[in-house]
Amino acid sequence: MDYQAVLDEVAAYARPFVRQGEVADYIPALERVSPDRFGIALVDIDGSVYGAGDWETPFSVQSISKTFSLALVMAHAHDDEIWSRVGREPSGTPFNSLVQLEWENGIPRNPFINAGALVVTDRLQTLTGDASTTMLHFLREESGNEDLAFDQAVADSEADHGDRNAALAHFMASFGNLENPVPSVIEHYFWQCSIEMSCRDLATAGGFLARHGLRTDGSRLLEAREAKRINAVMLTCGTYDAAGEFAYRVGLPAKSGVGGGILAVVPGRCTLCVWSPGLDRRGNSVAGAAALDHFTTLTGWSVF
Ligand code: DON
Repeated sequence: MDYQAVLDEVAAYARPFVRQGEVADYIPALERVSPDRFGIALVDIDGSVYGAGDWETPFSVQSISKTFSLALVMAHAHDDEIWSRVGREPSGTPFNSLVQLEWENGIPRNPFINAGALVVTDRLQTLTGDASTTMLHFLREESGNEDLAFDQAVADSEADHGDRNAALAHFMASFGNLENPVPSVIEHYFWQCSIEMSCRDLATAGGFLARHGLRTDGSRLLEAREAKRINAVMLTCGTYDAAGEFAYRVGLPAKSGVGGGILAVVPGRCTLCVWSPGLDRRGNSVAGAAALDHFTTLTGWSVF
């Protein structure tokens, strides 16, 4: 397959969708990004890298970090403990919704909504003593980009407008579902979300999901069954209350973020990352979803 030709065609297809939707503004520092941006990267399982558009421009990873925090918890613990504290069913509610938590006794539906990611971050904090630095170092190693960093302005902006996440964390703490103090958990969560990466960096760093758990250097991060489980939860929960629609259109495990990025996996073949800041009302990139939809149409590479 001529990957470069496919990406060029996908980028051309997605162009009319760029600028559709709204750039996230509930975290004011995210609003600075131009809605005109579009990039896509593909990294095959041998590490060959292809890209089109703004594929080397860093952006805020936001909720895509939730994929890596779950992977790091599994890699450090290799046990099922996390699944007694967070579920693995689609929520059908917005990513920062509070309503289910009371009915479900402080156990979030899945690790990819904010409440679930706070529990995962809490577990990573217990396992490593420094959840956000552990993630940054892992992402630097896996992407091969030593310059990756937290974006202080974004982390501060999230903290300044973080009442919703703080409420989720306090509510779960009241059910005994956090091991660490709420201020520390939300701080590490905000730092993780603020990391800046390009499509190239993210597609490279996510390669272990396509390689059934093997890292860039060939060593094992996760058992194959653990990588399968993360991919399964990405498919069913990675794009929030649009996960069904996304599976219908694209048919790949994927994780989106309000920075406009979407990381997608073709298990056994390649990892993709697409970025365009205009979001639909559920918080997923409009042009990004269109691009991945067209990618699976052109290649026939969905998981179905
Ligand atoms: O906690 C938040 O609201 C953001 N840091 C992350 C949310 C997010 O990316 C949801 N994605 N679509």
